[in-house]
Amino acid sequence: MQISVSNQPLALADAGALVVLVFQRPEGSTGIAGASAQAANQITGGWIDELSESGECSGKLLEMAILPRPTGLAARKLVVIGAGSRDKFTPTEMRKITGAAVRALKAKKSRSIALALDADLSGADFASAAVEGALVGCYEPDRHKTDQKAKDEQKVESFTIVGGGPATEAGVARGRILAESQNFTRDLVNEPGNRLTPSVLADEARKMAAEQGLDCEVLGADRMKQLGMGSLLGVAQGSAEPPALIIVRYKPAAGDSKTHLGLVGKGVTFDTGGISIKPADGMEKMKYDMAGGAAVLGAMRAIAQLKPSVTVTAFVPAVENMPGSRAQRPGDIVTSLAGKTIEVLNTDAEGRLILCDAIEYAKRLGCTHLVDAATLTGAIVVALGHVNVGVFTNEDSFRQRLLDAAKSEGEKMWPMPLDEEYKDLLKSPFADLPNIGTRWGGAITAAMFLKEFADPTPWIHLDIAGTAWNDETKPFLAKGPTGIAMRTFVNLAMNWKD
Ligand code: BES
Ligand code: MN
Ligand code: ZN
Repeated sequence: MQISVSNQPLALADAGALVVLVFQRPEGSTGIAGASAQAANQITGGWIDELSESGECSGKLLEMAILPRPTGLAARKLVVIGAGSRDKFTPTEMRKITGAAVRALKAKKSRSIALALDADLSGADFASAAVEGALVGCYEPDRHKTDQKAKDEQKVESFTIVGGGPATEAGVARGRILAESQNFTRDLVNEPGNRLTPSVLADEARKMAAEQGLDCEVLGADRMKQLGMGSLLGVAQGSAEPPALIIVRYKPAAGDSKTHLGLVGKGVTFDTGGISIKPADGMEKMKYDMAGGAAVLGAMRAIAQLKPSVTVTAFVPAVENMPGSRAQRPGDIVTSLAGKTIEVLNTDAEGRLILCDAIEYAKRLGCTHLVDAATLTGAIVVALGHVNVGVFTNEDSFRQRLLDAAKSEGEKMWPMPLDEEYKDLLKSPFADLPNIGTRWGGAITAAMFLKEFADPTPWIHLDIAGTAWNDETKPFLAKGPTGIAMRTFVNLAMNWKD
């Protein structure tokens, strides 16, 4: 998609569709709220007034009216879209609006879309969000559909911001990097288990790193054995596909960053559950069990281009969790890289078993701060549904920085507890730790398990099991992988203070 900024007057914007935002009118006031909407109303001789009088457009967020062949405008269609109340309007609303507009218009075969941006919304944040919404909204998980003609018919060729100010161009550039990286993450998550094995994920990481000028190293099974990553290897042994520990490094040009951020992402390319096998119903979704790893790689892709001042290293332990004659059994005891022994009571609790070795390795490579992202538990879906990411930590002030980053990126996240009392649920008579707790608080015991390995390094764990996959199409987002957490990682790195 070609993206540009234009300073033409609204009337001259030559596009398949011109989108204008209409804000909800504050109580008691009359007239149209929003400068571009006012202008479009005037040019069209009062069309927007009429829409609002006839109840077609009250300004409610994402309410949409499409007017063909608008008088006085060069654009073929005028799209009036509700933006909600002006006081509550943030980049998050902007992202949803352009996403919804682009999705609705591409279905109607508009190939060029222009967005009228009010002067007071011309900052880099809003321009970035507008571009993110458009590019992320356009994405369809249809890579493996072969009807190219049908796909081409729904392709948006250009997106133009009409209006804007001095910061708009910079915002557009940032928005493109973020959105393309988010779609890179989504493409990886969308790949099925047969096409994206741990080795293929490693190849994709190498390719991305080479394109972006990042350093990439992949540890194979032999090196893992040498190092003593018995926990990761225990999960991998059930599959014919060899495991990989993918490491991608970014260093700032002025290499004096005192801190070193480690991003760790769960990379289970398919989770059958292993010998503790999952039910058949819905198992196909478990191709998304590497969404944390994909988010971390997408973040590195954006970080390479946006160049924050902190050193960032990504770690993606990649395995396939399979049953089979070589698979690990319930009751097996493995020795992790950190030296702790683990009783594998349930082979389906494999995420923590690969993450604990990656976390220990990240600490050995000098990471001073760690954030992991993992589709770790069904229990987090019970707790927070498909709305919020569960956020666990051993250091509240670090978590607050991440929550702030998430908020600016419009990625919903919610703090979860990790009281010492939960540790009582992780006792094994035979090894240092079991890999599962009891029936209750499953997302917390999983996080507690990781904490045992992360401590004392400041660490945050994001359980993205409920938010990495969109079960129903939304007006601004296709069904399938969401790319959650990737933008938050980038924001955290960009706003890093040593
Ligand atoms: N990948 C799953 C987490 C998951 C489960 C995500 C369901 C989305 C929906 C993870 O590896 C897993 O299987 N976790 C188990 C842990 C249990 C055995 C303690 C779970 O949540 O059921
Ligand atoms: Mn599992
Ligand atoms: Zn899993």
